[in-house]
Amino acid sequence: MSRHSDTAALEVKGLVKDFHSGGLFSRASVRALGGVDLAIRKGEIVALVGESGSGKSTLARCIARLEKPTEGQIRLNGTDVLKRDRFQASREYRSQLQMVFQDPFGSLNPVHRIEHFLTRSLTLHGKAGTPAQLRTRLDELMTTVGLTPDMLNSYPHELSGGQRQRVAIARALAVEPEVILADEPTSMLDVSVRIGILNLMRKLRDEQGISMLYITHDLASARYLADRIAVMFAGELVEEGESLDLMANPAHPYTRLLVSAVPDPARTGSYDPRERAALRAAVMESVSCAFDGDPQQRCSATEPVRHRVGDPANEHWVRCHLYRPPATAASHALSAEPLDALPEDKASA
Ligand SMILES: Nc1ncnc2c1ncn2[C@@H]1O[C@H](COP(=O)(O)OP(=O)(O)O)[C@@H](O)[C@H]1O
Ligand SMILES: [Mg+2]
Repeated sequence: MSRHSDTAALEVKGLVKDFHSGGLFSRASVRALGGVDLAIRKGEIVALVGESGSGKSTLARCIARLEKPTEGQIRLNGTDVLKRDRFQASREYRSQLQMVFQDPFGSLNPVHRIEHFLTRSLTLHGKAGTPAQLRTRLDELMTTVGLTPDMLNSYPHELSGGQRQRVAIARALAVEPEVILADEPTSMLDVSVRIGILNLMRKLRDEQGISMLYITHDLASARYLADRIAVMFAGELVEEGESLDLMANPAHPYTRLLVSAVPDPARTGSYDPRERAALRAAVMESVSCAFDGDPQQRCSATEPVRHRVGDPANEHWVRCHLYRPPATAASHALSAEPLDALPEDKASA
């Protein structure tokens, strides 16, 4: 049994994002997200992994309302946000959900001292209070993220990359959000300071119950930090599961390819170069299901087609044309409504 609650803090359903491509008068478009379903529970970290260009940032930017989704639903604590805030994210939304970006320097204006960024965030969201309360809050924020209050007087360039990312996290924390979306928060940092940022994110989950989407192309850090991992391939989620189970039993060729590149002393057997080449070839095919149209398969009439992998407690599913459920198991096919189906499946398990 995992420590996080069963209530979804953030739920995304059928999220589609098309970008215009071609010239000013062209109607051509590229589909960056092909109908993504994802849920993050209260106090849970979900890692979103996938190669560059697979649509990870687009998903985060749509959820943060920095991009307008073409279709789909975003629910925060059950509220349909796209209906509530039709044109842009409201201040209320910003106070519930914050984003941390890859480049901490790019998101901190170099002319201001650290105190400015945090004070501004607190003031905008009505959390500053009296001058004395503001002072206390600033000091607390710095301590929470592992910095000393005297650094409030520093300029961004006087801090290291890791320290700047801590400031960016403190700024997000200032509004007391329920959800943080962190888009490759460590990928521009030295390897030696990455682990410190991951540990800070873990502390925020454990001590403050903050839910997080941790975006990375580094599966090893996803396993280290996240409760669950969702794998994105060409704008679609193709596999998702409890982190250790997904790493131990990857079912989609693309996940297997990612996992095969992660050094893991606990893994039995290794991937030989020929298998890696075969996996590479397999993932170049489009994502569709071989069971589609098979009347024996409950799932074949509906899209998307998901198959449960292993023990239902691990909430591990795959969506893959190559996946064959083990012959011993009864139908592992999940319905087209995974967000609703999973808790029900769990209850009946
Ligand atoms: N503003 C944009 N205009 C047009 N295409 C975009 C835009 N942003 C992203 N894309 C395209 O969407 C796809 C997904 O990009 P992105 O979400 O940045 O992937 P990732 O974060 O996984 O590297 C890519 O093909 C990218 O070229
Ligand atoms: Mg990105």
